[in-house]
Amino acid sequence: MTNKYMYFIANWKMFGGLGTLNSVNKVIKFLKTFKKSKKIKIIYCPPNTLINLMSEKFIKTSVEVGAQNCHESMSYVPLTGSVNPSMLKSVGAKYVIIGHSENRQSGETDKLINLKVKAAIKVGLKVIFCIGETLSQKRKKITKKILSKQIKLGLNKVQRTKNVIIAYEPVWSIGTGVIPKSRELLKTIDFIKDKVGNNKILYGGSVNPKNILELKLIRNIDGFLIGGASQEAKKFIDIIKKTYN
Ligand code: 13P
Repeated sequence: MTNKYMYFIANWKMFGGLGTLNSVNKVIKFLKTFKKSKKIKIIYCPPNTLINLMSEKFIKTSVEVGAQNCHESMSYVPLTGSVNPSMLKSVGAKYVIIGHSENRQSGETDKLINLKVKAAIKVGLKVIFCIGETLSQKRKKITKKILSKQIKLGLNKVQRTKNVIIAYEPVWSIGTGVIPKSRELLKTIDFIKDKVGNNKILYGGSVNPKNILELKLIRNIDGFLIGGASQEAKKFIDIIKKTYN
């Protein structure tokens, strides 16, 4: 049982079936079964196509909406297919995930990620800043070096760092069903806390209604960024309920 203020963030990625009005209605239905609590911050990060609709549906709730990525430009420029942080904010997003490993793997550099973080903060979005090592980096025992570099370059000269939430997501844990050993995770989160000061630190990677019983006991974690298990409205809510029971 925890008494802490915790974040539960659903990252809907581009999962099948979640890009529809129906998926938003299911979330609303389950949220109604859920007792509101001042200890919990729930954030949904749907595809951009649903941000507007979702934030309108959540208007009378404490649930907030975020985006999964953004362009680094703060101005409006002719760039086909791009969406800048101001545009996300104007349709109701309060947060944006930046630096997710899936995007790092498809070419986002620390430098680009830093520009995105700065742009998002500047327009008033809160940033969910993802860091994490790959399996081969873990095997080479360079996790700390990798995390330090991602933090140093990604948050370089970022103002208002209190608007940054860090999500530690070991790449080898995402979508694999494997989570770090509790002791290892505790140490890594402590290491990150030492680097960033007062920022909230979340864990992400294969969080589900079973392993939450183990994860919630790790004292320094401030919440969870949840991919696969957030696809089903009930599973996501179960994770939250089990954290507090
Ligand atoms: P899974 O929960 O599917 O492992 O995904 C984690 C993640 O990438 C959240 O951003």
